[in-house]
Amino acid sequence: MNYFFQTPPPTRFINSWNETDPLRTLFIGNPSKSYGIPVEFPTRVRSYNTCINNNKMEEQQIQKAVKCINNLIDILKYDYSIQVIRPDTYDHSNSIKTPGWELTNTNENSCPRDTFSILGNTILEAPMSWRCRYFESQVYHNELLQLWRADRNSRWIQPPKSAMTDNLYNFDYPIYNNNNERQHYANKYTYILNNNAEPVFDAADILRCGKDLFVQRGFTTNKTGIEWIKREFGNQFRIHETLLENNTTPTHLDAELTILRPGLMMTCPEKPIKDDLLRQIKNEENDWELFEAPEPVNHKMVDGCYSSKWLSMNVLSIDENTVIVEKKEKPLIDLLENTYGFQVVPVDFFDAYMFGGGFHCQTLDICRDGTQKSYFPYFDRIYNK
Ligand code: ARG
Repeated sequence: MNYFFQTPPPTRFINSWNETDPLRTLFIGNPSKSYGIPVEFPTRVRSYNTCINNNKMEEQQIQKAVKCINNLIDILKYDYSIQVIRPDTYDHSNSIKTPGWELTNTNENSCPRDTFSILGNTILEAPMSWRCRYFESQVYHNELLQLWRADRNSRWIQPPKSAMTDNLYNFDYPIYNNNNERQHYANKYTYILNNNAEPVFDAADILRCGKDLFVQRGFTTNKTGIEWIKREFGNQFRIHETLLENNTTPTHLDAELTILRPGLMMTCPEKPIKDDLLRQIKNEENDWELFEAPEPVNHKMVDGCYSSKWLSMNVLSIDENTVIVEKKEKPLIDLLENTYGFQVVPVDFFDAYMFGGGFHCQTLDICRDGTQKSYFPYFDRIYNK
């Protein structure tokens, strides 16, 4: 795509401050050439030790996901005139190697959300936290480079590239969950990454809402990672470390916390926001309504899908009134339409779930209308900015 000569030129190519302003441009991931998740400590933990090296993905499974994604692309392009950008294809059966370690293969590049966060006019490239995702962001570089060049107002940054040597990981964390052993760790908010190691995070741990960023610490983001985000972005955003109760697999925030429009947040009944932050969000000055997601219809994930059933919450907003939801999630669709007055666009996506997640995971909004605003008066007062 040639962004230089597009007419009429949008004033901004890279501009997105929240999850719900009118959507103009987005990346959609690419599951083709995916490969089974390679064995390393975090993937063993994430999969309860069920992943095995060299388990090629079924081509049929990939094709089913491609079909879902192509359908999503058509809807966004032709029904909503949204510009869709695609990453390069990369063959994940290739091995990777750094000075410190090597892996026989990588996984997939269907989740641009995991590797980038668009913070206003800034492309924040995540260092990632699992070895198999070390180079994953590179499939987006060709397209991002063009956008970055064309938009002289934009910035593109990433933290020091992590070495991801063994001292990043907390090997005490249980790979199995015998006797619900992980619950003890969840109670202490202790996970698989060492908090004092180099800064790491996955971008999907960041939930954007104007002046506020909610950043989950867990399997994919450590405390130093959040500290790095605070130092880089603390004068432009209020950054809230976000912990969820009972979260025995804290990997990305976008299937546990969903902002549907300013003032309306959907939470996960099994993994509530920890009390101190929850109290602040619910402070009456903010005037936000929180409601719990209904029990998902798609509750049994296929083998090889490591996400939880709460992918039902992983919706994609076209604007404040229009939201894409998985077609089978009738209770959620009814609730959004009838109680909250949304226009819901039901889209088939279950067959794509095993490629890293749902609509929000497998997309990345590059441009939405709008500017940075504060939606939390209570935070305005206590942060005094
Ligand atoms: N946190 C979700 C789970 O535990 C997975 C969400 C995946 N999100 C993503 N951006 N890849 O199931």
